[in-house]
Amino acid sequence: MTNRRGKLHQFTAVKLPAHGTDLADQLDELTRRRDQDHRERVAAEARLNQLSLEVQTLRSERDRAYRALEEAHQETLFRLARAAEHKNGEAGNHMRRIGLFAGMIAEALGYPDEYCELLYKAAQMHDIGMIGIHESILRKPGALTTDEWKLMREHPRIGAGILSGSDLPMLELAAEISLSHHEHYSGAGYPLGIAGDAIPLSGRIVGLADFFDALTMDRCYRKARPDEQVLEMIRERRGQQFDPRIVDAFMGIADKIILARDSANEIEAICDMPDVNGDWWMAF
Ligand SMILES: [Fe+2]
Ligand SMILES: [Fe+2]
Repeated sequence: MTNRRGKLHQFTAVKLPAHGTDLADQLDELTRRRDQDHRERVAAEARLNQLSLEVQTLRSERDRAYRALEEAHQETLFRLARAAEHKNGEAGNHMRRIGLFAGMIAEALGYPDEYCELLYKAAQMHDIGMIGIHESILRKPGALTTDEWKLMREHPRIGAGILSGSDLPMLELAAEISLSHHEHYSGAGYPLGIAGDAIPLSGRIVGLADFFDALTMDRCYRKARPDEQVLEMIRERRGQQFDPRIVDAFMGIADKIILARDSANEIEAICDMPDVNGDWWMAF
């Protein structure tokens, strides 16, 4: 016991001062660690801020690259549509006028600006499928034979084939328009022979815009008809070839459409039309 007490005493006597030193050391160590933790936390926060800045930069670079790719994609297809227009021997700037009329009709129907602008762009590619039709048919001065008509009536499907498969909304809409712009409200159109609201709205609008423009401009096989005569033809086809609601909206802005067409033709006569991504149609 003595020995054990002695050991205990010895332990207490030796360890007490040492314990005090330990506490001081531990305090120092804790302070050092706290400071180090603080420095590391500050450094980690700075790295995190730096990383989030880099992520933001990468994201905006990615978005810019995506937009540039999207525009390049659209531009290529617009040029192809323009090539089809030249091949078709269209007078003036048919595709741009169709875009313009389609956007204006959609606006008159009360659709939001985003849709009108999308339609303005997409409608311009409605006849892109003409690129797949032989020039001897497209530029034939006289009437087409039954077989030639059969080939001509393939252009909506050819166009839809060129434009479909994209996840860009404008091109999806353009593919829809290409396939449906020759359908008739009565079901007598082509290529699918669908009727009424089964025809996409975009195709119903562009079908009417296309009819008006085609008949009021010179073609290689016939002269333009007077505006009033073509307006009368549209009225006669209300509920047959054309959706009555779209005819009514069109008639409500017919004067504006004619003015816009004449202004567009004047602009085209003196200079190149503005870029397709511009919002010039909003000016009419
Ligand atoms: Fe067409
Ligand atoms: Fe057309």
